[in-house]
Amino acid sequence: MTTRIPTGRDYSALVQEDRVHSAIFTDEQIFQDEMERIFHTTWLFALHESEIPNAGDFKRLQIGRYPVIATRDEQGEIHLLINRCRHRGAQVCESSHGNTRRFQCWYHGWTYDTRGDLVGLTGPEAYDKDFKCDAHGLTRIPRVESYRGFVFASVAREGMSLSDYLGSTKPYIDIMVDASPIGELQVKPGVVNRTRYRGNWKQVGMDGYHPHYVHMSVFKIFSKRESTTGSAVGALHLEDPFADVSKSRTRGFPHGHACLDFREQRRPHADASIEELRRSEEGARYVDDMISAYGEERARDLIAWHGDPHLGLFPNLQLIHDHVRVVIPISPGETEVLMYPVFLKGVGPSINEKRLRAHEAFYGPAAAGSPDDAEIFERTQRGLLADADPWVQLGRGIHREEVDEDGSVASCISDEITQRAQMQEWKKLMTRG
Ligand code: FES
Repeated sequence: MTTRIPTGRDYSALVQEDRVHSAIFTDEQIFQDEMERIFHTTWLFALHESEIPNAGDFKRLQIGRYPVIATRDEQGEIHLLINRCRHRGAQVCESSHGNTRRFQCWYHGWTYDTRGDLVGLTGPEAYDKDFKCDAHGLTRIPRVESYRGFVFASVAREGMSLSDYLGSTKPYIDIMVDASPIGELQVKPGVVNRTRYRGNWKQVGMDGYHPHYVHMSVFKIFSKRESTTGSAVGALHLEDPFADVSKSRTRGFPHGHACLDFREQRRPHADASIEELRRSEEGARYVDDMISAYGEERARDLIAWHGDPHLGLFPNLQLIHDHVRVVIPISPGETEVLMYPVFLKGVGPSINEKRLRAHEAFYGPAAAGSPDDAEIFERTQRGLLADADPWVQLGRGIHREEVDEDGSVASCISDEITQRAQMQEWKKLMTRG
């Protein structure tokens, strides 16, 4: 009957090869341990470089349990500073984003520059002569690295490089970046869809099994639309995920990363996408610029793929269709999801406008896609709390997994490889000494 969490907080029994215990979605102590053992040890996505392009630009964000300010200093360097005054701990920045030369604490006026250095102390004569301002700057997140504009941070002072952490997922990140003919993306800090749902953060994963149930009504509407060029959403419904295991693949990578790989499914649609683009002046220029930048073959693929790697980077980032999705755990039963539409640099405005409209149609607050997901996550969380039979099944397709050329474990698009990859990494991090 009921399997309770093992005593001594050893979580190894909670994740089996083909199933996981529902406590990992509902238990308060497990959630607190996840913050320490996962979110404070691995690389986490922080922001995209284009969100703070100029000296003095800043943005507030969350790294694990820490509120953080991302800044760009006068020399153009990016810093991630813990938003906690070194005096008595007040947050020194309350704005979501902006531009400034100084952060002055609201409580007693200690002032910091964009590098986090303490540059202003009210009533300095009252402090002992040994008090050193340079020892009281805002605390920095110790490791910050980026890949193609995506900035990641690690609270851990030591660990593998970001390059090793991303491993063979990098060509998939390239799919999103190289949808721009100049290989640059624009993410705007104030342009974001913000969703909060009453469910666990691990439910927001790559799942090729659910779209034909949860999103079927939306796909039926989208299938009647003429254009699929502005977004990959329209292309998603075209194939039956259960009919052909060779076309679309689901992939699990080391370190818990996973993707739904639609490349082979979409490749044959390149001609249709190019033909549609060529109907407008800006669209035709986009096609020509892509061919000159990447060559005919690669450009055709990139256009067919719509810049959509459908990639999840464990534990807090997803690159899906036309947006960057950031997952922020609030509690075992509450999660915030931020969706930032991604704009292409080096293209005419009509190309980006079409992408934004397509994004809004599926993921916007008045759309059907994201609310459908949030609803099913909440229903699932309610079900998980009924732990009379506590095991959650994740064994779909486990007998037909194959190791692919890039080292990923791959199978049919609807198989649960992605969940297994995530959970095995969860187990590794939560149980290591
Ligand atoms: Fe910031 Fe006192 S808490 S100046």
